[in-house]
Amino acid sequence: MPVTNSDSGTNVHEIAAGIYRISTPAPPGLIPGGFTFNQILVVDDAPLLFHTGPRRMFPLVRQAVAHVLGDAAKLRYLSFSHVEADECGSLNEWLAAAPSAQVVCGQVGAMVSVNDLADRAPIALADGAELELGHKRVRWLDAPHLPHNWECGYLFEATTRTLLCGDLFTQPGGAELPALTENDVLGPSEALRKNMGGVALEAGTRALLGKLAATEPTTLALMHGSSYRGNGAKLLHALADALGA
Ligand SMILES: [Fe+2]
Ligand SMILES: [Fe+2]
Repeated sequence: MPVTNSDSGTNVHEIAAGIYRISTPAPPGLIPGGFTFNQILVVDDAPLLFHTGPRRMFPLVRQAVAHVLGDAAKLRYLSFSHVEADECGSLNEWLAAAPSAQVVCGQVGAMVSVNDLADRAPIALADGAELELGHKRVRWLDAPHLPHNWECGYLFEATTRTLLCGDLFTQPGGAELPALTENDVLGPSEALRKNMGGVALEAGTRALLGKLAATEPTTLALMHGSSYRGNGAKLLHALADALGA
């Protein structure tokens, strides 16, 4: 697992073919039990970064993207699940650093926030719309309030069956966590949720998790903690059960 910044421990790991997890552990002691901020880089003719990390983490993420792409300015698309610092805090820093990059979000996100927040107008994808990256293609899936924010949504990369599902299955733990695991991620994430909250439960939550499960993902690329390899549909249904949705 190459470390791209030794001071912060930021590291890069390929979790599916051409899909890289850029992980920055929170500084020791900042969050009890440790925590990670992970960004997902989809490498193709038109590379896409899913969530940017907080604004102050921008130099670390740019360094890691440059490690993989050779030049961070090659980045073509910036996308994220919902408006929050760790999702899109460095959006405008990225738009300046990658001159041909465009923001990709859902239609609600564009209308409510991104048309105003971003320095360049975003591409607003309808639920189920696909974007070609070259060989790979990503599909936008609206997921309002799952786990939070009206504009929330995810990307599914079809050729690798990877669901980029951000805050779902958020696990505590720092640099000691593996980049990718086939072990349980639901147990640790449910323990954290019961302790801290952060998940909105609505009448449509089970149906939304069912929609995500219908993509039959084999890799779940997660923002906090280890990414998961295995039967993603089964795990998403198990999350619906755990939420009592
Ligand atoms: Fe979030
Ligand atoms: Fe997050």
